[in-house]
Amino acid sequence: MERLDKLLAATGRWSRREVKGLVKAGRVLVDGIPAAAPEQKLDPALSRVLVDGEEAVLRKYTYVMMNKPAGVLSATEDTRQETVLDLLPPELRRQGLFPVGRLDKDSEGLLLLTNDGELAHRLLSPKRHVDKVYYIRTDMPLTEEDREAFARGIILADGTVCLPAGLELLGDGREALVTLHEGKFHQIKRMSASRGAAVCRLKRLSMGTLVLDETLSPGEFRLLTGEEVTKIGGKP
Ligand code: URA
Repeated sequence: MERLDKLLAATGRWSRREVKGLVKAGRVLVDGIPAAAPEQKLDPALSRVLVDGEEAVLRKYTYVMMNKPAGVLSATEDTRQETVLDLLPPELRRQGLFPVGRLDKDSEGLLLLTNDGELAHRLLSPKRHVDKVYYIRTDMPLTEEDREAFARGIILADGTVCLPAGLELLGDGREALVTLHEGKFHQIKRMSASRGAAVCRLKRLSMGTLVLDETLSPGEFRLLTGEEVTKIGGKP
């Protein structure tokens, strides 16, 4: 059982204070009956909540997809630099969300933010090998030999062994899609550098079943749909 105001604030549409006002004005119905108080407890899996006649999708956990812009840190807080959490409205920021897996400051694209620690653990576990696909642009064309080296598994200059990775060359080879099954620090940049090419642009396109919504401009975000939550293994 969860508090009504907590559940409605978790949708990112209203703050707890706004929920209080809505409840007071009789605009919130729980199973057809006007809500008695913002603290009223209910089971989000069993109860139906309408706000101004529209059904609110209630979840115990919050799942946000962001198109991370370059120049912002994938962290929850930083004393000096802007973080992805700073791009969210206060109602979402208050929910203890954190990014699932990091993108470098200059990287862009799909970032999942959630407060579902279990899901984050599962998606990041090296044992699960969740595929992540990235679009990259390099200063030098990558070649068929580079594709084979990625497929064998690259050994970085410091001896770090990378798992076999996919490299699909696009156009003249200055653009490519990279598929990783793990997430080492600066992995694509270091793999690419070991083949003599510097990465100038890096954008994550997908993570397991979750695909970046291309209608989101850099810095924009939206809640995951019910289908996306279920497919990625979150709690519906
Ligand atoms: N590999 C990198 O080098 N950077 C990222 O942000 C993600 C993968």
